[in-house]
Amino acid sequence: MNLKKMVGIQAASYVKDGMTVGLGTGSTAYYMIEELGRRVKEENLSIVGVPTSFASREQAQELGIPVKTIDEVQKVDVTIDGADEIDKNFNGIKGGGAALLFEKVVATYSDHTIWIVDESKMVQTLGKFPLPVEVVPYGEEQLFRLFKEKGYNPTFRMATETEKKVTDCGHSIIDLHLETIENPEALATELDQLVGVVEHGLFLNIVETVIVGRTTGAETIEAIR
Ligand code: A5P
Repeated sequence: MNLKKMVGIQAASYVKDGMTVGLGTGSTAYYMIEELGRRVKEENLSIVGVPTSFASREQAQELGIPVKTIDEVQKVDVTIDGADEIDKNFNGIKGGGAALLFEKVVATYSDHTIWIVDESKMVQTLGKFPLPVEVVPYGEEQLFRLFKEKGYNPTFRMATETEKKVTDCGHSIIDLHLETIENPEALATELDQLVGVVEHGLFLNIVETVIVGRTTGAETIEAIR
């Protein structure tokens, strides 16, 4: 059973006629966008998509989903996106696909945020998945050194063996291999305050609904805070 496809299709059913929809990024969001494309074509669904990456924009356009940027809409009704890890408090790590900046901006202006994941992403404590930190190239080696001194085990995200990955906004990504993040709020505050850090992959208190793909079926969980 393709769990990513199952939750992608399930999440697309939240989308109603006339909605503005934040289109997430990644291999799970891919199926949700595909299903929305099907509904636009076959059910005449009328929506506007706000893509969170160039890749999702391209996919949506190819499927005939009208798209706008976050600045061209008043607000977003619902955003559906994947995640790399979700803990018991419904905090998450995102950015495995390097789209964290647009993803966080779009989620911030969304009335409702839904994450779609397969069951392997549900964890007790965040941190096994490397935490992406998006940084301005100017001064990135200094930030890298600082993270190293702090014991955060940084690595630059690479596109090839020799070329650093460049995000849709022209930034670099430093992945922090932390293994476990005891206090996500404190770490988020620390990263928010560092000059040259544009954004990080800690998504705290953002999601309202999580749809988990299990071999037994899709489970929908409402986040209680
Ligand atoms: C993109 O930058 C990420 O935040 C993705 O949403 C996340 O990595 C989940 O991706 P998959 O659905 O491909 O696992």
